[in-house]
Amino acid sequence: MLQKIKDMLNEVENLEAHSAEEIEALRIKYLSKKGSIAALMNDFRTVPAEQKKEVGIKINELKTRAFDKINSLRAAFAQTDNDDSDIDITRTAYPTPLGTRHPLTIVKNEIVDIFSRLGFSLAEGPEVEDDWHVFGSMNFADDHPARDMQDTFFIEARPDIILRTHTSSVQSRVMEHTQPPIRVICPGRVYRNEAISARAHCFFHQVEGLYVDREVSFTDLKQVLLLFAREMFGENTQIRLRPSYFPFTEPSAEMDISCNICGGKGCSFCKHTGWVEILGCGMVDPAVLELNGIDPTIYKGYAFGMGVERITNLKYQVKDLRMFSENDMRFLNEFEAAN
Ligand code: DAH
Repeated sequence: MLQKIKDMLNEVENLEAHSAEEIEALRIKYLSKKGSIAALMNDFRTVPAEQKKEVGIKINELKTRAFDKINSLRAAFAQTDNDDSDIDITRTAYPTPLGTRHPLTIVKNEIVDIFSRLGFSLAEGPEVEDDWHVFGSMNFADDHPARDMQDTFFIEARPDIILRTHTSSVQSRVMEHTQPPIRVICPGRVYRNEAISARAHCFFHQVEGLYVDREVSFTDLKQVLLLFAREMFGENTQIRLRPSYFPFTEPSAEMDISCNICGGKGCSFCKHTGWVEILGCGMVDPAVLELNGIDPTIYKGYAFGMGVERITNLKYQVKDLRMFSENDMRFLNEFEAAN
């Protein structure tokens, strides 16, 4: 009997449980009315009188230890259980702050998107360029004022290597290795040596378009630009083309759109004219085709170039160009919804 009690005490000390159900099963096994300790108590009757005292003490000790053990298992389990209940799996997640696209990227993507729907594919070229691709191949005379130190950033010790002043250089990069039909849209950053102010910066962004094929007319150009203006600024937008001059197009034009801030009635943005200029364009000068290895007796083309900052200003009324490069989060976060 004493040995039996001792064994059971050992068993009880080493009990383990991993769930409330397991603890309850142990309680039933040892401490219930039909449990093993109750069975020992029953056997107690058969213990000889002279051993009763000693066995009685041992059984009581076993009972207390079993009680304590099961209670301590319960307490340990309740603690881990409590830890779990601190996690509310129904709670909404903390918001993760997402970045926003830069307003110029938003507008550039929109421009590229509109033209890609019209069949234009994307082309890009380097920002550090040579004089040939920026000026020579674009039919700039050697003494053209745009080559002047005033406008162009030169790379030290290499006067023929410059920062491109316009994305028209990509026209040349495409034409020199592609025969028509060519239909490309070329976004990119350009640099000009200007004093930085609210209205001018030493770098800004342009999107260039070029279309070269057998039968290309000024009417095609006009129609594509009208479609672009309406996609970008709304279906009531009007366009007007004014004669202009660029070395690489002939004839050349500048395009205005009806001011989308006042709807053409006249406001300070459009200087009370009802029109704002958004791009330069024209028929590719045959000399440019020739300079870039395309036969001008077979092919014709049109080209256009627009400033992304200008279009962004029109869409979002950003008054100061410097805002675009100051990384002020209050400004950038305003474009969260436009992403
Ligand atoms: N490259 C001109 C500029 O920077 C913009 C331009 C005008 C591009 C007419 C063209 C064009 O392709 O046809 O001001």
